[in-house]
Amino acid sequence: MKSELEQDILKVLITEDQLKARVQELGDAIYDRLEGKNPLFLGVLKGSFVFMADLVRACQLRSNVEFIAVSSYEDATVSSGRAKINYDIQRSVEGRDIVVVEDILDSGNTLSFLCGYLKSRGAASLTVVTLLDKPARREKAITADLAGFTVPDAFVVGYGLDFAQRYRNLPYIGVLKPAVYEKKEP
Ligand code: PRP
Repeated sequence: MKSELEQDILKVLITEDQLKARVQELGDAIYDRLEGKNPLFLGVLKGSFVFMADLVRACQLRSNVEFIAVSSYEDATVSSGRAKINYDIQRSVEGRDIVVVEDILDSGNTLSFLCGYLKSRGAASLTVVTLLDKPARREKAITADLAGFTVPDAFVVGYGLDFAQRYRNLPYIGVLKPAVYEKKEP
């Protein structure tokens, strides 16, 4: 029987096995780029928390882990184009090689803002890693250095990604049934 979360999923887009294999490839690529550099992995909350946990374990570098919370969507399903920091990094990024870890690159507003912020705070280098890339909706001229999967313009959830703060705990990336996000709350 399907779980109460799975009942809302139209189809599985990326399976657990595919995620595991690709995350390891990304971890290997980061290792090759940053060996000997003591990078700081910076997870962008909340969506990146599952990917971040797997990625840092797939990359056995001497490194640090930090988080930042940036919101551009507020409670809307479409980016407002503005971003703000809700929780800041707890250490200096000056002179550090930063690996920015995102779950999805969509309009590009969040990463565009964040990269500018990190540069203004003196980061030595930025390596932008996103699990998912949705180029169809790009508004800012930004590309990731490493991207796990290119996804179509569908409502994707799971493996950290949410709809209305739910579905983050699905172990795979799924497409949400339109009836779920078209439904009006009572
Ligand atoms: C999502 C996602 C990215 C951002 C990408 O975060 O985690 O940070 O949107 O979209 P963009 O390229 O259009 O800026 P969201 O603001 O939904 O918060 P969350 O991570 O807490 O779910």
